[in-house]
Amino acid sequence: MKLQSGHEVVPLEGHEREKQLKDFQGYTNGLIRLMPGRWLFPTRFQKVADRIYNFQHKKSDVVVMTWPKCGTTWTQEIVWTMMNSPNLDHPDAKSPILARSPFIEMDMFFPELKPGELPPSEDPFYVAFKKVCGNKNPADGMHVQLAEDVADPRLIKTHLPFSLMPPALLDTCKVVYVARNPKDVIVSFHHHSRLVKLHDYVGTFADFAQYFVDDDLVFGPYWLHLKEAWERRTHKNLHFIFYEDLKVNPLAEIKKLDTFLNTDLTEAQLNGIVKYTSFKEMRARDNAPVFEFEQKGVKVEAFNGEVIKKDGGFFRKGESGDWKGKFTPEMDDKVNHWIRKNLDNLGLEFKYGL
Ligand code: A3P
Repeated sequence: MKLQSGHEVVPLEGHEREKQLKDFQGYTNGLIRLMPGRWLFPTRFQKVADRIYNFQHKKSDVVVMTWPKCGTTWTQEIVWTMMNSPNLDHPDAKSPILARSPFIEMDMFFPELKPGELPPSEDPFYVAFKKVCGNKNPADGMHVQLAEDVADPRLIKTHLPFSLMPPALLDTCKVVYVARNPKDVIVSFHHHSRLVKLHDYVGTFADFAQYFVDDDLVFGPYWLHLKEAWERRTHKNLHFIFYEDLKVNPLAEIKKLDTFLNTDLTEAQLNGIVKYTSFKEMRARDNAPVFEFEQKGVKVEAFNGEVIKKDGGFFRKGESGDWKGKFTPEMDDKVNHWIRKNLDNLGLEFKYGL
């Protein structure tokens, strides 16, 4: 099968499939690779891929694009607040960010609804879907339809690379790309993959790091994702943020965003948003959606309670350089070698790096 983006869909088979499905127990419907690029996705990505590739973006849209765990949610909250609630008084501000700023490919993680079946009425995404999309059919993809129908100016989240998004994306709307030191990404995504039952990673940390450097994690090669964005960095509609810079001086980064987005906020509003979107305040509000879904015929909670107790929830640590002390010397050597090789090709540097 070929996608409209030109990628060939190759189902993962044999030993590779067995290993993945044993380590990631949430990928119950198997995985596919997209060639070229070796992008790895749950099989159901095929159902939404062309729809996302042909998505009708509007001039007023803003897309937050990142590889997982690079600070997507933080950036979404900053941008959403700048665009919709600069005085921190919007009535919807406390609702889950993914209801206000839809995750366009998220349907790929959920089991398909059977004919006539509806999501549980308390599912926060279904609540948002009904409010935003009215009588539309949730079986046609709740998240992609949320992205279509959410109020303007739409703020859309994606972990897809440019090559899987509409070719005219940057000529149509604005994109904020967030990058983060890959060592911190490994630590954060390992936590996330254990925490979130849609991934349900049960393997070791060392194996997870190996999956990462081998480009064998869902969402695909970290460097290729970054490279596709970095090559476009001079486009007037693309704004690059590094998590590390946002951490060191959020006000300076939010001011750059203010210029990029033409939001024209006052100094008091900008300072208010810095505080409102600080790790401390976002963790205290923690509005990550709580939902259940069906996994292997059984209803499971979205988050693993044991992991939360031991290592924290979605808002885990929110720091740069937290990888230090977590990598064995052997793992550190391997990742350093991999970073050097790839950074040299791109000509960029990460703070708190090697
Ligand atoms: P850690 O696991 O290192 O704590 P994403 O939103 O792309 O999934 O990224 C999640 C990472 O960003 C997590 O990193 C999370 O704690 C961190 N994060 C979320 N909100 C943040 C904030 N306001 N300030 C700093 N880091 C934040």
